[in-house]
Amino acid sequence: MARPRPFVAGNWKMNGLRSSAAEMIRIVQGARALTAVDLMICPPATLLGLFASIVEGSPVRLGAQDCHTQSNGAFTGDISAEMLKDAGASAVIVGHSERRTYHKETDADVRAKGLAARRAGLCAIVCVGETRTERENGRALAVVRTQLEGSIPDGATADNLVVAYEPVWAIGSGLTPTPADVAEMHGSIRQLLRSQFAEEGAGMRILYGGSVKPSNAKELLGIADVDGALVGGASLKADEFLAIAGVYR
Ligand code: 13P
Repeated sequence: MARPRPFVAGNWKMNGLRSSAAEMIRIVQGARALTAVDLMICPPATLLGLFASIVEGSPVRLGAQDCHTQSNGAFTGDISAEMLKDAGASAVIVGHSERRTYHKETDADVRAKGLAARRAGLCAIVCVGETRTERENGRALAVVRTQLEGSIPDGATADNLVVAYEPVWAIGSGLTPTPADVAEMHGSIRQLLRSQFAEEGAGMRILYGGSVKPSNAKELLGIADVDGALVGGASLKADEFLAIAGVYR
């Protein structure tokens, strides 16, 4: 099967105000030259509506950063997958390590959110990744495997599931795993996807995330079974995000 089409997504986390529209406009303008890669920005939910009007007619898609499992109801402060779709998102990140850490989300929670995303017609970007201690103890592959087995909804397709491997220790730290470690992990994730979803699993995108920058993007994105990136800090600046995505030409 042909390599999946590359995908570079920016996770803005809890950053961005209406004044960030200028940066989003720059991303949309630069995206027109990047025809070999799918591009997405996941702003805070407060900006989805505004950004939806900016990306209209462009190849840039919008994603959200989390969703509730239910479609509506008495859940003060939460946002459902249906609401995100209605606001202009076509995907939602679920199980980011910051949600797993600060909001105590379990694999079962992540799976339920992934199913909610599918119910609403959103693609779920499921995040997994080991801590520094887990890697030092030689448990990285096993930890990620367990996370995937618990987090990925049954019956997923290459259109409604993307996996993002984000080593917790690489997020926002400037550190990245060695290319050999990335290759080993992505190969292991691919194997698991293939064993669970057969040929469909060969077409699912596996993103790398954690301190991706213009200076290391070429090396990281050139690794086998790395089908793109989930970019945090560098996605807040149009020129950096576009330089990363520009690796795909
Ligand atoms: P950084 O690119 O800032 O390390 O963040 C990665 C990340 O958590 C993306 O979801």
